[in-house]
Amino acid sequence: MNFDPSDPALSAELPHDISEALAWSAAERGPFGSPLFYATEVTSTNDVAARLAEAGAAEGTTIVAETQTEGRGRHGRVWCSPAGAGLYVSTIIRPDRQTVPGSGSALLTLMAGVALADAIREATGLVVDIKWPNDLVSEGRKLAGILAEGAGHGTSLEHVVLGFGINLRAASYPPDVAARATSLETELGRPVDRGALLARALVNLSRVRTASSERRTSELINRWRELAPSAVGSVVEWPSSVGVRRGVTAGVDDEGALLVDVSGTTERITAGEIVWL
Ligand code: BTN
Repeated sequence: MNFDPSDPALSAELPHDISEALAWSAAERGPFGSPLFYATEVTSTNDVAARLAEAGAAEGTTIVAETQTEGRGRHGRVWCSPAGAGLYVSTIIRPDRQTVPGSGSALLTLMAGVALADAIREATGLVVDIKWPNDLVSEGRKLAGILAEGAGHGTSLEHVVLGFGINLRAASYPPDVAARATSLETELGRPVDRGALLARALVNLSRVRTASSERRTSELINRWRELAPSAVGSVVEWPSSVGVRRGVTAGVDDEGALLVDVSGTTERITAGEIVWL
């Protein structure tokens, strides 16, 4: 790999909780978190991971930051990233050659949702739901989000940077974020072990990645369906070229598209903003 080792984003010493968790999870993580870089402050871990990927970093190369000055979410939103209040992580995926661009990355993000929802359950005991496409929620409040950003040449997808942010403890968010967000510490009433959560996330990413390479995608989609009760029977609205449309969710198909029943006709939603009513 060809990168600048003096880059401050890549040279900070790993905190003890993270190095300890990486040590006990090494045998189960596959390539995820090997190597893992830690930074006290970056613009966005997705930016650093994209630079590493462009420089040839292997699948599983991971960057964790204590805070992000320009953390971003889906649809161009800001991802508030106060120091110590969240786990801010990006890892590199190198899609299989036969992966169809678009549908492949859509599936990867759903799989990441499964990996993280299960990681939170395993590491903390908190039962979280997935809301399509991949928000992690507890009692309807957002606890974590996933941002997958792909890059390639022509029609080939070279890499996907999979970034995730998990709210560890309450922070002073702007009012609109505070109204919709929660944190693990708020939900559990106790602090969580950040290292253990990170390690479980990396172990589960390795597990879902192996399943996807082995074409065991239906297994993962079925697990996604179990974790996402709102994907059936919820009233949703979304913008379209003919104005705002409304329907009732009817599950996801095998490519990860949300199916919505509109007056007896099933519509297939692959991207864009959904409003849950
Ligand atoms: C969303 O729900 O809108 C996705 C949020 C993704 C946030 C994470 S934090 C780590 C990584 N770096 C970023 O800038 N964004 C993702």
